Amino acid sequence: KYKAVIFDLDGVICSTDRFHYLAWKKIADDLGIYFDENINQRLRGVSRAESFQIILEKYDGKLSSEETERYLDQKNKLYRSYLEEMTEGDFQEEVKNTLSELRRRGYQLAIGSSSRNAKHILERLKAMEYFDAISDGTNITRTKPDPEVFLKAAEMLGLNPSDCIVMEDAKSGIEAARAGGMKSIAIGDAVPEGLSDYKVKCFGEILKIV
Ligand code: G6P
Ligand code: MG
Repeated sequence: KYKAVIFDLDGVICSTDRFHYLAWKKIADDLGIYFDENINQRLRGVSRAESFQIILEKYDGKLSSEETERYLDQKNKLYRSYLEEMTEGDFQEEVKNTLSELRRRGYQLAIGSSSRNAKHILERLKAMEYFDAISDGTNITRTKPDPEVFLKAAEMLGLNPSDCIVMEDAKSGIEAARAGGMKSIAIGDAVPEGLSDYKVKCFGEILKIV
């Protein structure tokens, strides 16, 4: 009944959590802000600028917009330097084989990610060839839980939202799929029980759903 699967990137196709965490941790430490893995969980699927606002909830001072821009730029430079460690080897066999099987079954595949680094990451993983469309932080004005990134992906594929199912690891992403009129599959344990249409423990399990 579906014609396409739209995948979130970070936390679904690959694991960049640790790199985002380390980069934000350095910024938080420089500003003397308390930051831990729990707060980091809230940054899943959230844009860079909004992530920084969440971190600043624990900040007593005030930053000018120039300073804010500078920190955002610094965070991304750090993050990009960590991404240098990423190679094809980080594109897991299970993910690769599952994507191939989905294509064999005739599904169109797309990326729906808030990240402005999505294409860079997909290139590092040598994963570009698996996707028919890439909708990311560079082609949207509103981030998840707004459905824009997924609606753009459907549009790129030439499909209606109801033809697409979304796979996500973040609460904001599942909310975005729902707001866009798409069914959703949650992976991992960051999405509250009952919010998504389906829930899987591992990536390959999607083959039992579609
Ligand atoms: C993904 C990640 C978020 C990150 C966002 C923006 O959604 O889950 O943690 O903040 O992308 O990433 P960017 O690469 O543009 O800084
Ligand atoms: Mg994610």
